[in-house]
Amino acid sequence: MKGVSLLDNRKIDRCLRTRQFGRLRLLLDACTSTNDVARDLALAGAPEGYAIVSETQTEGRGRFGRAWLSPRGGIWLTAILRPPTLFSSLLSIPLIGALAVARGVNSTLGIRTKVRWPNDVVLDHRKLAGVSAEGMSRGNSLDFALLGIGVNANFSSSLLTGFNKSCTSLLDVIGRPVNRELLICSILLEFEQSYGLVLSGNTTRALDLLREHDCSAGSKVRVFLGDVQLVGTLTDLVSLTEVRIARKDCSSTVVDSGSADSVEYLAD
Ligand code: BTN
Repeated sequence: MKGVSLLDNRKIDRCLRTRQFGRLRLLLDACTSTNDVARDLALAGAPEGYAIVSETQTEGRGRFGRAWLSPRGGIWLTAILRPPTLFSSLLSIPLIGALAVARGVNSTLGIRTKVRWPNDVVLDHRKLAGVSAEGMSRGNSLDFALLGIGVNANFSSSLLTGFNKSCTSLLDVIGRPVNRELLICSILLEFEQSYGLVLSGNTTRALDLLREHDCSAGSKVRVFLGDVQLVGTLTDLVSLTEVRIARKDCSSTVVDSGSADSVEYLAD
């Protein structure tokens, strides 16, 4: 598209500060979904941290089976994860991925995006980015997982209107195109650090950081759990995967992100 500058691999090389994430990477002009490409590479043995970035996706996927529109100018990225333990750690990936995006965007651009359970990065209640995790298991163990990151960067969110009116983009917020290479490097570094905390068992620090960046606590939500709908106030993040939801009658339920089929944030 005219006016949108393409990602430059050499610029990424110059600003990448990670030990592993993004050191091996593939930059594409177009694909169905970076998750599809990553899955093939992971099945062929690509190591943890391998990142796939595409200028556009024709069949981008969001959580809850939704389509994810991926016009040129965005950041559409999948990283391969090979966590050594526990399938359950997969559930924490979207939230710590969202934390990494929020911290990466905030430190690079000096804005104050927030994390919204279970996998969003928002600015003024509008969705700026989403994070997904897909796992592939062999027998009882997790063979690999795919961290998917989508950031509405250098395009107007009006391109998404009709798809989702409560979205925003960095172009809308900053008023000019941002340096996507710098953002990618910053997000990968932040992810490497927060993922490292989780893998080393330091979930307390990860949860503290999440609470510092969280904007979900205090919000009214409707959560779909199979046939059951739970409406109430999300009072706090209980763990890296769970939140507490209080009903009007003062009872409360702890909900795990793995059991939520869909989450809606309601106006107060
Ligand atoms: C969500 O908020 O629903 C998660 C969105 C995740 C989108 C990213 S874009 C890169 C990767 N490829 C996909 O098809 N999806 C993820």
